[in-house]
Amino acid sequence: MTQHSATVIARANIALAKYWGKSDVALNLPAVASISVTLEPMRTETTVTFDDALAADEVSLNGKRADGKPLTRAIKVLDQVRALAKRSAHARVESSNNFPTASGLASSASGFAALVAAAWSAVDLPRDDVRWSALARQASASAARSIYGGFVELPRGVPGDAGLAAHPIAPADHWDVRVVVAVANEGPKDVGSTEGMTLSERTSPYYRAWVDSSDKLVEEVRAGILARDLTKVGEAMEQSTLAMHACMMASRPGLIYLQPATLSALATVKQLRREGVEVYATMDAGPHVKALCHARDAEKVAAALGSTPMVLRTLTAQPGGALERIS
Ligand code: DP6
Repeated sequence: MTQHSATVIARANIALAKYWGKSDVALNLPAVASISVTLEPMRTETTVTFDDALAADEVSLNGKRADGKPLTRAIKVLDQVRALAKRSAHARVESSNNFPTASGLASSASGFAALVAAAWSAVDLPRDDVRWSALARQASASAARSIYGGFVELPRGVPGDAGLAAHPIAPADHWDVRVVVAVANEGPKDVGSTEGMTLSERTSPYYRAWVDSSDKLVEEVRAGILARDLTKVGEAMEQSTLAMHACMMASRPGLIYLQPATLSALATVKQLRREGVEVYATMDAGPHVKALCHARDAEKVAAALGSTPMVLRTLTAQPGGALERIS
């Protein structure tokens, strides 16, 4: 019996300029560029073991055996790695997150980044961040960004560009900011991002406007990060978030990811700003509010969000490092 195994850690990321929409569905290319910050300590740890004795691929997520779509998506990644390595053994994948899965906290981003890198390393291919990022992007575009640490950009995809990958724009220690996550709900979301963005493209009258408005916001977020200008990044991030949610909501049927706790947390963020604390909010395809602020204000922001009605709890994250192989 032959076994080849590798374990990696990837960190979640949060988009400061949002990705929503595809320019090539088959290759999973984004219709807009996006920029994220990789988050420490929100981690996925994944072990992939290729084992000749296995009759089929087996995937467990947080100790529970996966089936349906998550299993199919993981098998697609394993098939690509097997084809590259000219191997045929099936694999056992064991993946766990230290934050809520499938609730808008970007677990698919760290999950697919970790899966690609662990599978690739288990078949003894040499580390290749660009190819990992491109493979991860095909599985879930936000995952392309979790290969790298710090502040990361994924460009818009030109249809047919199978190699599109993310690239870092500044390292984790470039800027001492914090992301305070106000957890609104622990359950999984109703409509996943892939399905949601396809629906928006097909039915939302604001989809074109969203795509057309994104370039300017991406420029502002990038320039703001490089200049460590929280006002510039925060204002562009809030507009990117709300433009994306307006596009989602105008879909048919409407995609409403925001919940009462979300609006209540947004009111707290506004109130903090009125009190002179520089803090800005973003939400993904889920109800949680992620508040971006200076490190020195993080405790105050966490205390205010933590005592906001309907917010369950808060988590505080900081810019984190690139994907790591640990065994
Ligand atoms: C709202 O990367 O999950 O979080 O490529 O279809 O897997 P697929 O979508 P996914 O979408 C993330 C959307 C978002 C914004 C963002 O992270 O940029």
